[in-house]
Amino acid sequence: MTGPEARRRAAARMLADLPPSAAVWCSGLHKRYKRRTAVEGVSFTVERGEVMGLLGPNGAGKTSVIKMLLGLVRADAGEVLLLGRPARDPYARARVGYLPELFRYQPWLTADEVLTLHVRLAGAAVPAADRRESLALVGLADRAGDRVGGFSKGMQQRLGLAVALVARPELVVLDEPTSALDPLGRADVRDLLLSLKARGVAVLLNSHLIGEVERVCDRVVILDKGRVAASGTLPELLGQRELRLRLGGVGPAARARLTAAGELTRDGDAYTVALPAELDDAVVPDLVADLVGLGVRVHAVEPGRISLEERLLDILRTGPSQEHR
Ligand SMILES: Nc1ncnc2c1ncn2[C@@H]1O[C@H](COP(=O)(O)OP(=O)(O)O)[C@@H](O)[C@H]1O
Ligand SMILES: [Mg+2]
Repeated sequence: MTGPEARRRAAARMLADLPPSAAVWCSGLHKRYKRRTAVEGVSFTVERGEVMGLLGPNGAGKTSVIKMLLGLVRADAGEVLLLGRPARDPYARARVGYLPELFRYQPWLTADEVLTLHVRLAGAAVPAADRRESLALVGLADRAGDRVGGFSKGMQQRLGLAVALVARPELVVLDEPTSALDPLGRADVRDLLLSLKARGVAVLLNSHLIGEVERVCDRVVILDKGRVAASGTLPELLGQRELRLRLGGVGPAARARLTAAGELTRDGDAYTVALPAELDDAVVPDLVADLVGLGVRVHAVEPGRISLEERLLDILRTGPSQEHR
């Protein structure tokens, strides 16, 4: 059978066989405001179900990049696809949730009314139960009927997150989601990001704060003065990890076992093992079990943390460079 119908079906099959489009794809983004260049040649991809962090100091161009991705600011150059479509495509629009950096909701509306309004503006149909669920997700379950005018900044930010999530988007773009939150609130957002990831939702998160939330990111892109200064997975950017142990009764066999795990240094009963950057979850428990099996007394096991903050300062000091990958 030939003819237009067969060709149409063949084309549909070919499209279906292609790998699913990335959540975000952008290439060569440029933006100038009058004489100030804000973004200069930024390209990156966010895969489906991936949490990507766009990090960098104030004024690095993070918000400008996000606004270009969403079609809220016109790029001077560059291309963007969201969920495989142009950003202005209604299909993409309806499946992207967005928390803007600066926002104020109508203070006379209740939290539930704010959600209802946004859902209506987005042209989506969201049942009341889903609205309640999205408020519960951000810890505002019992505030649905309260006026937003009486909300603290942190509560308004939580509500903003609920607005970004309420229509069950495939991609969520969050501009500084934790700037108004206390450490507890940040931990909540981290858990929220993990639950989104578990549901296969892609997240692009933009932040000048380094902390727990950033540790949820599968990959980060570090912006500095409008350019990509570095990008990669956290292990790639942070390099080696180390494990600090306090041990008693270490014989030759235990020593050999420790050395097999990584380069070993010792100071009295304190042993430090340099572990590879990409670490299997089983490595540490297996090591501890083997040491115990070899008669070692294990007093303490502590993963060494190279902080992302230190690493970031490093990268920013050396400037956009060979770090780029
Ligand atoms: N609407 C605007 N008009 C003029 N300059 C702007 C505008 N928006 C951003 N900028 C400038 O562009 C640069 C990047 O800003 P922005 O994207 O907001 O950075 P970030 O979100 O990383 O803090 C800054 O120098 C900022 O002053
Ligand atoms: Mg910003």
